[in-house]
Amino acid sequence: MSANTFSNEELNPLQSIEQWEDDVLLRYPEPAVPETAKSKEEYRNYDNPGRDTVREFYRLNHHHQTYDFVQQKKKEFLSFSRKETPVWGAMEFLNTLVDDSDPDIELDQLQHLLQTAEAIRADGHPDWFVLTGFIHDMGKVLCLFGEPQWAVVGDTFPVGCQFSDKIVYPEFFADNPDAKDERYNTKYGIYSPNCGLNQVDLSWGHDEYLYQMMKDYLPEPALYMIRYHSFYAQHREEAYDHLMNDHDREMFDWVRKFNPYDLYSKSPKPPVISELKPYYESLIAKYLPDTIRL
Ligand SMILES: [Fe+2]
Ligand SMILES: [Fe+2]
Repeated sequence: MSANTFSNEELNPLQSIEQWEDDVLLRYPEPAVPETAKSKEEYRNYDNPGRDTVREFYRLNHHHQTYDFVQQKKKEFLSFSRKETPVWGAMEFLNTLVDDSDPDIELDQLQHLLQTAEAIRADGHPDWFVLTGFIHDMGKVLCLFGEPQWAVVGDTFPVGCQFSDKIVYPEFFADNPDAKDERYNTKYGIYSPNCGLNQVDLSWGHDEYLYQMMKDYLPEPALYMIRYHSFYAQHREEAYDHLMNDHDREMFDWVRKFNPYDLYSKSPKPPVISELKPYYESLIAKYLPDTIRL
């Protein structure tokens, strides 16, 4: 199924792809900040039109992310034949992703990435961790290639085996053809116990795409953070322990270390890009090639 068989409403159920992350934040509020009555109410209030668009987004995601869909997207995008650019150029390209949301309250992509990275840097973590914060959402350029929002962002989950009821909105998997396919609907499906996540295909999105782009350049913990940062069903809910091996378990400490920076570093004060650019350009030069292919 190619992207152009979907209507515009099906391609873009959200007003902006940030709506997904805003919803994740309501689901997993910052522990240090007491849940406000407002956030609880917002999360539970199914009449809230923002919730409805997020529900529709997950309905489409859970319906269409099948094992075959993931194989097709990998074939389509992992040849990296669309564009060659310096990393900073890719970030500027990502920043052309503008949406209908309120520009007064919404930070752009580059600002979210810089806030994440600056929070990591402020805590004194190694420079490759800071760089990981800076690039972790670069894979969202998929949106600029006309991809459906639900094939770019959203919680990720294994395909090729039973969908866990710990994944957000599990009821929508009833419409996924794989749920009725005997090859894919058992606990292990096509996998074997504790085979390791490297053997497992997750639903397609910006995480796997960027991982494949970066896999030769960054230390392994950085690659785990990039590849699994949207895998909330595991790093928050531990629903897929049976597919993990000991090495995955060790590496997931890093994924969990990264997640609060992604979710809780948003501050209304936008970073000054021109002041920060030289430092980030130096990190890029230290770890990454002169140009990358998208
Ligand atoms: Fe992300
Ligand atoms: Fe992010």
